[in-house]
Amino acid sequence: MPGNIMVKSCSDNDFPSKLTGQVLVCSIIAAFGGLMFGYDIGISGGVTSMDDFLKKFFPIVYVKKHKARENNYCKYDNEYLQLFTSSLYLAAILSSFAASFFCKIWGRKPTIQVASIFFLAGAILNAVAQNLGMLIAGRLCLGAGVGFGNQAVPLFISEIAPAKYRGGLNICFQLLITIGILIANIINYFTSKLHPYGWRISLGGAAGPAIILLLGSILISETPTSLIERGKNEKGLEVLKKIRGVDNVDKEYSEILNAIELAKQVKSPFRNLIMKRSSWPQLFCGTILQVFQQFTGINVVMFYAPVLFQTMGLGGDASLLSAVVTDSINVAATLIAIFTVDRIGRRLLLIEAVMQMLVAQSVMGATLAKHLKSTNIMPKHYAVVVLILICVFVSGFAWSWGPLGWLIPSEIFPLETRSAGFFFAVSMNMLCTFLIAQTFLSMLCRMRSGIFFFFAAWIVVMGLFAIFLLPETKGIPIDEMNEKVWKKHWLWKRCYEDCGEKKLQEKKEDFKIQENLDDKSLA
Ligand code: BGC
Repeated sequence: MPGNIMVKSCSDNDFPSKLTGQVLVCSIIAAFGGLMFGYDIGISGGVTSMDDFLKKFFPIVYVKKHKARENNYCKYDNEYLQLFTSSLYLAAILSSFAASFFCKIWGRKPTIQVASIFFLAGAILNAVAQNLGMLIAGRLCLGAGVGFGNQAVPLFISEIAPAKYRGGLNICFQLLITIGILIANIINYFTSKLHPYGWRISLGGAAGPAIILLLGSILISETPTSLIERGKNEKGLEVLKKIRGVDNVDKEYSEILNAIELAKQVKSPFRNLIMKRSSWPQLFCGTILQVFQQFTGINVVMFYAPVLFQTMGLGGDASLLSAVVTDSINVAATLIAIFTVDRIGRRLLLIEAVMQMLVAQSVMGATLAKHLKSTNIMPKHYAVVVLILICVFVSGFAWSWGPLGWLIPSEIFPLETRSAGFFFAVSMNMLCTFLIAQTFLSMLCRMRSGIFFFFAAWIVVMGLFAIFLLPETKGIPIDEMNEKVWKKHWLWKRCYEDCGEKKLQEKKEDFKIQENLDDKSLA
């Protein structure tokens, strides 16, 4: 039976280990970094549709929003409003670069702690903001928190998790992102009724998860890999035994030592990633996954769902409530990913979701094209159809490209380029999120419903990528990816072949063919 074969090969790849309480607790605490990230994603859409907030910081948008006969697709188009949402991601790109060094030199745990301090500072600044400057400064601090948190948390979880549970545990990070988004929208729903300072509660609420992350991070232990990498071998071995729940960790320990020995020979991981052919497969797959994750169009829904629903003619309340519905689907579907990713594998989830998201985006675009013109109000039942399509789209994303966009880049790099490689993935995510946050409202204004077809086209490309270029990483120990995954892939194995030897081989073959031809012509 194929199922049996899969289970066997999975355990063949694994080292002796149990799923210990220690690993579970550490993963969940670290995943609170995801809660912070999710809260920040979810809160901005609702806050930017609150009149009190707009009146104080963006009076022009407030006037435009309430102008009769304003073009449906353009009423929120304002670059400062977009800058409020997207400034966070600019800061995150820069800080994740710093975080990649910090993470390597000081370890994963302190990086998570720095993230929580930035989060706390950002939440306080935003809650007491008196002008646009303070507001943006708060967003920049939150962005620095996201940069540090998103750099360290997925790596932390992938390094402490036993290989056969790594997918599910790592997706706890994404699960908490989705819970953060949901909580943010529920809070927005209530605070939108608290005039005139409801928005302050919404923005200040980010302090809650920041404090939990800060206190929780005192309890977690550093990963064995990071300890050993920094010369603390004894402590590393002790932590390894504790988190694996078995004494026989010799094989895994020596695998980590090997990986560290190799890593030591690499003086500049960034140069190595860019210049060495054998690093290209991971670099390409890790970063392109994040580009694709964002170009599904997910953040159009996450940031601007309330704005989008208001555009379609739903009232303010109904819009916020609809966002809560889509966010709940997001959480539920992420749970499905946790339980399936280590059984059916990464690629199957990605490929199935491509089809689901493609249908949803295309039908949504067609419905809006037909029923939402520049100045009409869309009939309610069509708005409900669009809401259902958004749920279909979000669920597909939530069990595939959402969590796997973080999981796969955190597990495919060898130790010597892990932090640096993951930096490329995180910063690519932030860059693409920034681009979408900064341009979506203007794109919506110019392209109207065509914007959904734009995302649909990207989804087709990412489907081809998942089918042809992405190898399966389910159940493979993190320090054995090169041997067991990349060197066996039909295309990427070429990056490991010795070029000199290959050319020699080709020349020999050419020579043989020529010899044969000469023999024939002589005969
Ligand atoms: C993405 C975010 C997105 C969220 C939605 C994350 O994996 O990185 O950009 O908003 O998923 O759940």
